[in-house]
Amino acid sequence: GFHQRVFSGVQPTGNLHLGNYLGAIKRFVELQNHYECIYCVVDLHAITVWQEPKDLSRATREVTAAFIAAGIDPRAHIVFNQSQVAEHAELAWVFNCVARMGWLNRMTQFKEKAGKHKENASVGLFAYPNLMAADVLAYKATHVPVGEDQKQHLELARDIAQKFNMDYAERIAELGHGEQFFPLTEPLIAGPAKRVMSLRDGQKKMSKSDPSDYSRINLMDDADTISLKIRKAKTDPEPLPGEVAGLEGRPEAANLVGIYAGLADTDEQAVLAEFAGPFSRFKQALADLSVEKLSPITAEMRRLTAEPDQIDAILADGAERARAIARPILDDVKDVVGF
Ligand code: ADP
Ligand code: NA
Repeated sequence: GFHQRVFSGVQPTGNLHLGNYLGAIKRFVELQNHYECIYCVVDLHAITVWQEPKDLSRATREVTAAFIAAGIDPRAHIVFNQSQVAEHAELAWVFNCVARMGWLNRMTQFKEKAGKHKENASVGLFAYPNLMAADVLAYKATHVPVGEDQKQHLELARDIAQKFNMDYAERIAELGHGEQFFPLTEPLIAGPAKRVMSLRDGQKKMSKSDPSDYSRINLMDDADTISLKIRKAKTDPEPLPGEVAGLEGRPEAANLVGIYAGLADTDEQAVLAEFAGPFSRFKQALADLSVEKLSPITAEMRRLTAEPDQIDAILADGAERARAIARPILDDVKDVVGF
C-alpha cells in the first residue's frame, strides 16, 4: 500500500474566487486532519496561457496568502510553488512520453481554453494534464481534492500511472518496487459546491477569466461588494421551492442554494427548509453568510500580502520539504526508465 497523501494545486492567475474557495481551498483545510497534505501554487500551469511577468509573483503570493488565511498550516503540511521544485517538470517530460496524443485530444478543458484557435494554443496548454499527473505522482499522492472540472484530468493521471506501471512492469519488479510503482490516485470531489456557477449565467462555471466581475465573488472583495454582487445575482421569477426536486431546471437558484450550503456546511435540503419563499430574504441571508465567512479570510490575506518576505520564506521552506519527498521518487523513476 501507499502512504496516504494529498496533493492539490491552484493556479496563480489572479481573481481567486468563491468557486476556488468552496471547490478547493476550503476542502484543503478540512483534509489536514486526515492526511499528510501538499498544497502547491501551480505557476508552471499558469504560463500555459500568457501571464504578465510582473504580475506572476504577486499572484503566487496571493494564492499562498489565501491558503494560509483560510487555515492551511504550512508548518504541519507543505505549501510551495511549483517552479521551485524542478522534479515536476522533470517527471512531466517522462509523462509526455507515456501519455498518448489520443488521450489528450479528448480533454474538454483544452477545447474550452484553446477555443477556435487551436493552432495558436501553446503546446503547454495541450500537455497540461501530463504536468498535472506529474504534480501528483512526484509525491505518489493517493488523493487529490479538486472541483468537478478537474475530474477528467485526474482520470488521465490514473491512465498515465497505469501505463507507466505496465510498460515498465518487469523493471519495476526487478528493482524491488513490487507491482505498482505509482498509485492510482483517487479524486476527492464532494459537497454541494463542487461546481460553483457564474452569478450572471447558470450555465457557465464561476471562473477567474470571466470578463464580468459580477459573475464571481473574489476572495479580495469587501463586504459591500459581496452584498451588491449577491443582490444582483441572476435568478428566475419563481420563489425558492421547499424541496431539492423543485430546483430542477433552475440552475441560478440551484447555484445560490449550493453556495449557501457549502458556506454553512450543510446540504441543499436544509437550506430550502429554512428559505423556501421569496428570493429577497434568501439573498439577504446569503450575503450576510458570505461576508461572515469570507471577511476574516480577506482581512488575513491583506495582512499577509503586505509582508511578501514572510510569504517567500514560507514558500522556500515548503519547496525544500517538497523536494525532499520528490527527489528520491524521481531518482527511482530514472532507474526504472533506464537513465
Ligand atoms: P480556475 O479554474 O478558476 O482558473 P484553477 O484552475 O486554479 O482555477 O483551479 C483551482 C481549483 O479550484 C481546482 O481544484 C478547481 O477544480 C477549483 N475550481 C475552480 N473553479 C471552480 C468552480 N467554479 N467551482 C468549484 N471548484 C472550482
Ligand atoms: Na480549473
